[in-house]
Amino acid sequence: MSDFLPVCVAAARAGGQCLVDWQDRFLPREKGPKDLVTEADLAAQEAIRNIILGAFPEHDFLAEEDAAERKSLGQAAIPPRKSAYRWIVDPLDGTANYVHRLQNYAVSIALQHEDDIVCGCVLDPTSGECFTAERGRGTHLDGRPLRVSGCRSLEQAMVAVSFSPNVPRGSIEITRFVEVLHASQAVRRLGSAALNLAYVASGRLDVYWATSVQAWDVAAGVLMVTEAGGTVTGLDGKPIEIERPEMVTSASEPLHAEVMEVLERARRSIAGNRH
Ligand code: IPD
Ligand code: CA
Ligand code: CA
Repeated sequence: MSDFLPVCVAAARAGGQCLVDWQDRFLPREKGPKDLVTEADLAAQEAIRNIILGAFPEHDFLAEEDAAERKSLGQAAIPPRKSAYRWIVDPLDGTANYVHRLQNYAVSIALQHEDDIVCGCVLDPTSGECFTAERGRGTHLDGRPLRVSGCRSLEQAMVAVSFSPNVPRGSIEITRFVEVLHASQAVRRLGSAALNLAYVASGRLDVYWATSVQAWDVAAGVLMVTEAGGTVTGLDGKPIEIERPEMVTSASEPLHAEVMEVLERARRSIAGNRH
């Protein structure tokens, strides 16, 4: 194990404890239409920052609520990098679930070195499940190695999707959802991108796709899927860009090809309707 993963896990646990501590006293507010934030998000982010920058003061720290603040001030959400190492943090992924006391939310922390994600942790404070991954060393759940399901057919697949908080009526996101709903065994919108990826890595889900997520939602989870033997690409079939992470993840290559075809059918049907 690298020196980084224990710090990553300790920071996720400290963040998770903040979320539990705030559960009965937070006040939600909208930072954008239907896009919620609470004191818990901010408290967890601070706890995580203290642990990570306490251990690695020279590293960059990119966290969702800092990015939201920069954006509200008219600045670039993601500042230029100063270090080869950058921690990418979502202190609470699934804030809407947390606010409504649904159990599906998580802390997500990843470490990027140059262009590669090298380790990550997704912690579910409700169940206590702690998913970890290290580049070249696999994905683990509470120390047990994980593999994707290996499912090869969309007809047999349990699929999850993330939408933007405020999905526009008639958007391609809806058309893609309808196409995949018809072609798959079942589709879920569980509300935490980070947990969806951890679930693909652990074989609970067979496919997950998202076109409106951000680096902090998926940086740790993408490493989990690839290290567990799954496939991750952009919607164009190319490697994903972590700062613009439109992506499809699947439990096998044949399944991936089938999902990509169905998503492309949705794009063609929208393009056809415009003519
Ligand atoms: C959200 C969740 C959700 C996804 C949204 C994200 P947040 O993150 O990951 O699954 O659909 O696009 O914004 O706001 O709860 O950290
Ligand atoms: Ca998130
Ligand atoms: Ca968040």
